[in-house]
Amino acid sequence: STGVDYQAENCTVFHGTVDADHSGFTGTGFVNGTNEVGAYVECAVTAAAAGSVPVTVRYANGTTTARPMSITVNGAAATSPTFAGTGNWDTWATTTFTANLNAGTNLIRLTSTTANGGPNLDRITV
Ligand code: GCU
Ligand code: CA
Repeated sequence: STGVDYQAENCTVFHGTVDADHSGFTGTGFVNGTNEVGAYVECAVTAAAAGSVPVTVRYANGTTTARPMSITVNGAAATSPTFAGTGNWDTWATTTFTANLNAGTNLIRLTSTTANGGPNLDRITV
């Protein structure tokens, strides 16, 4: 990993808002996805070379119920973490998944899979 941050608020947001009403985010805010199945954030990330790399997701989930998401990399499913509760909406946690990247630009999409929606998303680091 080269540790490049991609702020969620700078990615493509399908059904959601960029908010800043909870503390502790990085960048200029975070993405509050609509609480529904299918809301997503998609980030275009660059890799120097093809290969599998860890991707870190910084998120908050102020509930006691996991907020599962499906993750695709260039349309192919990746194994997603569970996005467990973080205690409150001001408390951010990191979790990691493995992305199989191509050299050049890659599209990483995180999509909520339950009616509760996904967690608030701060950034991904590749
Ligand atoms: C609250 C919180 C939001 C969060 C939402 C949710 O409204 O302020 O930041 O996205 O709960 O349940 O998803
Ligand atoms: Ca939400």
